Amino acid sequence: MSTEHQGSRDHQGAAGARQNGVFRTKTVEQSIQDTEEPEHALKKSLSAFDLTVFGVGVIIGTGIFVLTGKIAKETAGPSVALAFVVAGVVCGLAALCYAEFASTVPVAGSAYTFSYASLGELPAWIIGWDLVLELALGCAVVAVGWSGYMRSLLDTAGIHLPDVLSGTHDGQFGFDLLACVLVLLLTAILVAGMKLSSRVTSIVVGIKVTVVLLVIIVGAFFITGSNYTPFVPPAQDAEGGSGLTAPLVQSLFGFTPTSFGVMGVFTAAAVVFFAFIGFDIVATAAEETRNPQRDVPRGILGSLIICTLLYVAVSVVVTGMQKYSELSTNAPLADAFKSVGHPFWAGLISFGAAVGLTSVCMILLLGQSRVFFAMSRDGLLPKTFSHVHPRFGTPYRSTILLGGLVAVVAGFTSIDELAELVNIGTLFAFVVVAIGVVILRRKRPDLPRSFRTPLVPLIPALSVLASLWLMLNLPGETWLRFGVWMLVGVVLYFVYGKRHSKLDRATRSAL
Ligand code: ALA
Repeated sequence: MSTEHQGSRDHQGAAGARQNGVFRTKTVEQSIQDTEEPEHALKKSLSAFDLTVFGVGVIIGTGIFVLTGKIAKETAGPSVALAFVVAGVVCGLAALCYAEFASTVPVAGSAYTFSYASLGELPAWIIGWDLVLELALGCAVVAVGWSGYMRSLLDTAGIHLPDVLSGTHDGQFGFDLLACVLVLLLTAILVAGMKLSSRVTSIVVGIKVTVVLLVIIVGAFFITGSNYTPFVPPAQDAEGGSGLTAPLVQSLFGFTPTSFGVMGVFTAAAVVFFAFIGFDIVATAAEETRNPQRDVPRGILGSLIICTLLYVAVSVVVTGMQKYSELSTNAPLADAFKSVGHPFWAGLISFGAAVGLTSVCMILLLGQSRVFFAMSRDGLLPKTFSHVHPRFGTPYRSTILLGGLVAVVAGFTSIDELAELVNIGTLFAFVVVAIGVVILRRKRPDLPRSFRTPLVPLIPALSVLASLWLMLNLPGETWLRFGVWMLVGVVLYFVYGKRHSKLDRATRSAL
């Protein structure tokens, strides 16, 4: 710990103890000090490179492999590439805010920890609860996507799983055995230790990036220029797109819901945003990084830039290979190669996608267990979530419990609407983090910040507006589900978290 941190800890501790109620904040010094208690300490073994691999490992996934085709076909046409740019810009603004926070508060828990230090306990709880949507639910969504690719590979090899074990399809119930098994296997790997997980991750990320580059380079030879016309297809009335299924912004302002056109680019951006989820998770590993102040910002921004470039390139190539209206919605990258008569490349791409989605699942699960770890250490969740395994150095209990729950969710859910719920939850976290940066600058200008968000408060303000804009482009029913989830979270806070909070006990003993 730096002497600067140590020097101001007593003063800050006393100031923290004087605060009361649901907006009490945990000082940054307290957060850092907590990470040094032996039974709660995670191993510090990651470098900037590990973090970037980690970031790319979780970012490239179902979004580019699955959603690109669906969104190009139904919402944006070839301008899906623009939707990726829009979503990338929104994430870039958020990344600038995350990077400052992560370099100031380098402890496990990402947006949760940041909010505790700046906004107060209730907002921090809300964020922790909200992150479940992004991480646990996101992991389930990706596991289901992975299972689809695996089944397609197995089918090619002549092995056909019974429908009842192939997940819910076209309204017909089924248990997704493969998705469930994948989550359980990954849980075991994570319990065995961070170093093992990051080694596995590196190999998987290598395969995934190779496949994406393959799509871009090989696919470029099969582009037909006329497929790009019209680049932004004219707006047309959305089928059944009314009421709760229409983007909220269209319902609010009384537009007839449309697909395609300029508004279609934004509707598409709100969905393909899923493809970028994960860069913020780099921040959840801050506490396990050797030099978090320098390496976390590098890891976050580096992985985001790499992925944005790859996404735009992939979507330009794929919509050039096949007319957007003919793209497949299940395995669009592989099927585009089939459409130009190259099943070999298609098989290779399917294989790489299936391997690649594994790492996404794993890192989402890791991020979730670390957020619960941090919340439990603060007393907002039962103690058992922050118990670290004496040999493996991992929060094994929270990992096992969460892995089990996610495995069940993955077994019983289908992708579509869940992905939108994941998006709204993540965008909400972005809004809170951006506001938090401004508040922490005001409250604690003295803190060492190795990375400073440029042009504060302009960049955080733009980040809030951009995230809100994408949220408004999600359907009304997604907002409704999100509202219900958050309400449940607030009730839980008042029933459990508020009364068990460590900060609450500290405050009372200081009075
Ligand atoms: N960004 C990740 C994906 O696309 C969550 O699967």
